[in-house]
Amino acid sequence: MKTKIVLVAGARPNYMKIAPIYWAIQEKAPEKFAVELVHTGQHYDASMSDDFFRDLGLPTPSVNLGVGSGSHASQTAKVMLGFEEVLAQRKPDVVVVVGDVNSTAACALVAAKMQFDGRRPILVHVEAGLRSRDRDMPEEINRIVADALSDVLFTTCRDAGDNLLAEGIPADRIHFAGNPMIDSLRRCLPAAERCGFLESVRLVGRPFGLCTLHRPSNVDMPEVLETLLGVLAEIATELPVLLPLHPRTRAKIAEFGLQERIAEVHRRGARVPPKGLVGLDPLSYLEMLQALASARFVLTDSGGLQEETTALGVACVTLRENTERPVTISEGTNVLAGVERASILAAFEEARRKAAAGARVPELWDGRAGERIVETLGLVRGGQ
Ligand code: UD1
Repeated sequence: MKTKIVLVAGARPNYMKIAPIYWAIQEKAPEKFAVELVHTGQHYDASMSDDFFRDLGLPTPSVNLGVGSGSHASQTAKVMLGFEEVLAQRKPDVVVVVGDVNSTAACALVAAKMQFDGRRPILVHVEAGLRSRDRDMPEEINRIVADALSDVLFTTCRDAGDNLLAEGIPADRIHFAGNPMIDSLRRCLPAAERCGFLESVRLVGRPFGLCTLHRPSNVDMPEVLETLLGVLAEIATELPVLLPLHPRTRAKIAEFGLQERIAEVHRRGARVPPKGLVGLDPLSYLEMLQALASARFVLTDSGGLQEETTALGVACVTLRENTERPVTISEGTNVLAGVERASILAAFEEARRKAAAGARVPELWDGRAGERIVETLGLVRGGQ
């Protein structure tokens, strides 16, 4: 009998973490597992969802709960109600949640309490143990919930395992598997190089920087967003800085009347100007990888980009006060900048020095995390 495994996808940063697990099952152990993708619908625009499934070669999820946007409580509650029905129907042996979005915590809570035929599914958290120690971040709450409830916890770095042990999670539940997001990066980079994005905005062979901003703490308050756009404009006096706009960020820029700070370029044949801050629609996964691999530097408040820049050796300035990914600082190209002008400009210089000196790619960020996860899951099931 095959082990029935449900992989949960909720929001944009989840897809490149479930893909390597899906690929490893299909390519290495199709006889052992029957795998099903369930999308909660937390992200729903094509540019935040379908385009990524296409780029990663993932099938359309068999279920989409269609929860959409809302307050934290209402979004979490809708995911829970929908996911409970899915589990009651499908009765999987294993539920895998990844990352730290609201869907991660919601599905973990449901799976941990679910009972059918006198048993409950094994709950697995991939990317366990990351801690920013900042409980004002909704993601930190989601990580703590998913880790506390999971039966099997896969970590991407050694410090994450230490965090879990310090919280009293038994050592035999923790498996250091490496970073599945870097599996996706390595596998998709050749296709990204051919995807034509840089050609479409006439940036091939020209220097440029890249920035992403979407955290509520950076974009929801007018004075913070205005300061950040001001520093980015300073950095962009010598070369263009691309700013693909998350829907939340685009809406806030309009609400605060800051549109004139950005030159919007609508792609397909548009030439990016020689300097200045350049707003773009959200990039697909391949487009983002192509841009990342060629960018002179990155400024970001994303978690994923801190890791992807470290894997690619590109200078990264993190526009936050803390990070749950310290290995990208201790070994990689990342520098924590905060959100003040002076500290950002200092971090910008430091990150470029670090990248030029040559940073290290962390242990087990080798493109084989998905295989290790699937191998371990086979053993866990076998041992039941
Ligand atoms: C979510 C995650 C965050 C992750 C980010 C990546 C949580 C708590 N936050 O934040 O950890 O880094 O995704 O993008 O889970 N919207 C659209 N179209 C969409 C999705 C969202 O227009 O497809 C707009 C809506 O106005 C929505 C807003 O963006 O209200 C925010 O979306 P939401 O999913 O609540 O949080 P994110 O900021 O995307």
